[in-house]
Amino acid sequence: MTSPTAAPPELATERPSAAPKTTETVVVLDYGGQYSQLIARRIRDCGVFSELLPHTVALEEVVKRKPKAIVLSGGPASVYAPGAPRLREGLLQLGVPVLGICYGMQLLVHELGGRVEQAEVGEFGRSDLTVLHNGRLLEGTPREQTCWMSHRDTVFEPPPGFRALASSSASPVAAVEDDERQIYGIQFHPEVVHTPYGQDILVRFLTDIAGCERTWSAASIVEDQIARIRAQVGSARVICGLSGGVDSSVAALLVHRAVGDQLTCVFVDHGLMRKGEGDQVISAFRDTFGVPLVAVDAEERFLAKLKGVTEPEAKRKAIGAEFIRVFEEEAAKLARTGEEDVRFLVQGTLYSDVIESGGGTGAATIKSHHNVGGLPDDLQFELVEPLRALFKDEVRAVGAELGLPERLVWRQPFPGPGLAIRVVGGEATKERLDVLREADHILQDEVRKAGLYRELWQSFCVLPDVRTVGVQGDERTYGYVVVIRAVTSDDAMTADWARLPYDLLETIASRMINELREVNRVVLDITSKPPGTIEWE
Ligand code: XMP
Repeated sequence: MTSPTAAPPELATERPSAAPKTTETVVVLDYGGQYSQLIARRIRDCGVFSELLPHTVALEEVVKRKPKAIVLSGGPASVYAPGAPRLREGLLQLGVPVLGICYGMQLLVHELGGRVEQAEVGEFGRSDLTVLHNGRLLEGTPREQTCWMSHRDTVFEPPPGFRALASSSASPVAAVEDDERQIYGIQFHPEVVHTPYGQDILVRFLTDIAGCERTWSAASIVEDQIARIRAQVGSARVICGLSGGVDSSVAALLVHRAVGDQLTCVFVDHGLMRKGEGDQVISAFRDTFGVPLVAVDAEERFLAKLKGVTEPEAKRKAIGAEFIRVFEEEAAKLARTGEEDVRFLVQGTLYSDVIESGGGTGAATIKSHHNVGGLPDDLQFELVEPLRALFKDEVRAVGAELGLPERLVWRQPFPGPGLAIRVVGGEATKERLDVLREADHILQDEVRKAGLYRELWQSFCVLPDVRTVGVQGDERTYGYVVVIRAVTSDDAMTADWARLPYDLLETIASRMINELREVNRVVLDITSKPPGTIEWE
């Protein structure tokens, strides 16, 4: 029973389900909360496949997925404010258990006749929760526990038929349930690590209440994906642009498993890669996996296009345009060989890309970059996207399952335009790129030796277009400055500078200065994001 309300705008486009065919699905509806993706990931960590859909999605799209349960996420709005996101009509009549988290709970309470109002004080961060009745949802958790809160509005009275289960100092009603109708709500965030019983509560909801089986894992989708790819591609040929990144590598391997030599990979070496990277990709794919691979050495072409270009976006555009040109030429060459058409293009689209392009609450774009080094939409291919259902860490698990070398599985993100956007404030010449490549190699080498590579989101060097004075062996030098940039992050939206040990920094700096004639100074970037970005350009 929902209050009469103008229907929210529905997404016009059909949303193909990312779910493996035989899997139970839990639908998470996104009301714009900062942790919405995390809820979906945590549910998957519990062994249950989950899909995140915008709260505006048509009810039929939810029904089509035959969900075992529905979770409503948090969000920034006030349920009583004009224009606030409402509960999709008919959602509570689907006969599946519903769990509202934060805004999701307030929405349920408000629409079903309870009282939600702004509290005198907000509740942000760690809070003490007192459980009054365990009910079904909180069964097995202690009377006193801590949890993570992030809200200003608060539930003061549960709706008729509901029982209040818990309270905190700033939330008179912090958890509710109506077990008969299978509707549950929690004000706190079970998906964050600061809620110690959060995962237990999710498991309880998913298994005891919703009856899910907990059999899903990223690796379990491999066979399913292979079958899907075969069905989609038939006997046609497939092309894949391999960058060396984990996404395109895993996508290519899955497609190769499915259709073998119908797949050809194209690796465009633009001369802006890190030391030895091109060889690693070629050897892994061609030698280890026997994947047909065309490797194009296009360094000269790219350097020619970068001549005289100093402005960051101009560099990106020049590289992006040349990349497409090279790829199209190779695709045309392939099309002239063989009997079957090259009809399909493999893309390593991830679930986070699917969510972002699905009309969710996308964050502001700071740099226009994420498709640079990618391919335009109007290429004449149908897309094969075997990773559409997976988050990044799940792609790594599949890569490991398929035997991808550890170095490629755990490769830190590397921008499409490569080292060119790390020669900053000046032209990316061959000489500068070579200095940067060597410096970067020393950094990677030492970071790996120190066992820190996986802990860092990214670690790399930047070469500003400046020279400074130094003295080496009684001689005045006038050399390059190398900047060390190392950050920790979960998703690159925010990042903190990594506290690398001083000894490690010293080793890195002295190796750079001793081994690289052109370098006489090494500095460390201690800027977080925001206000800085991870890259310098
Ligand atoms: P920023 O510098 O905006 O970077 O904090 C966030 C993440 O994006 C990567 N990045 C790029 N990736 N093409 C890419 O494919 C680009 O032009 C590009 N610029 C930045 C960056 O390395 C970080 O992981």
